[in-house]
Amino acid sequence: MKNIVILISGGGSNMRALVEAARREGWEQRWGARISAVISNRADSAGLAWAREQGLATAVLSHRDFESREAFDAALAQVIDGHQPSWVLLAGFMRILTPGFVARYEGRLINIHPSLLPAFTGLDTHRRAIEAGCAVAGATVHRVTAVLDHGQILGQAVVPIVAGDTPERLAARVLSQEHRLYPSVVARLLAQG
Ligand code: GAR
Repeated sequence: MKNIVILISGGGSNMRALVEAARREGWEQRWGARISAVISNRADSAGLAWAREQGLATAVLSHRDFESREAFDAALAQVIDGHQPSWVLLAGFMRILTPGFVARYEGRLINIHPSLLPAFTGLDTHRRAIEAGCAVAGATVHRVTAVLDHGQILGQAVVPIVAGDTPERLAARVLSQEHRLYPSVVARLLAQG
């Protein structure tokens, strides 16, 4: 069985899209892949409640309970490793990870970022894309490396920026494309074995 662990911090709509695609597309029957756990660094993540309702294993590990980034990441890795994951998917997980954590899951740690990387790493991507006068925005699924929002690009979705766009309106349109992009990239990785 290929276990998949998903890390979230908030709404968890990408996690939900992954869980629903896995069911709809039969990831378990086709590739022996199962979403085994959803872990959040915030107890109040709406996504966590949804995952619980779906009967998925969930865990909360608050970064506030740890003195350093290293200590948090070490504890997080322990929880993740309890599920023996083949893949660790970051889905709106809003923590910068230490190089040690990234190295532990090298090649099987994947992230979705709300811009067309390599443009607009970091936060506030949609406002920055609008202010830069870009004609398009979008989202990128990539392998995680120790350098923030870098690493091999596995797939991208392009969304036009339209006249009068606000960061909020653009974010909503990009998010709905993220929900198609992330599951399709993960399915491709699973199919490749
Ligand atoms: C998504 O837009 C995701 O790309 C972004 O946070 C949102 C999470 O939404 N991730 C990052 O900004 C990572 N730096 P969700 O919780 O509804 O999936």
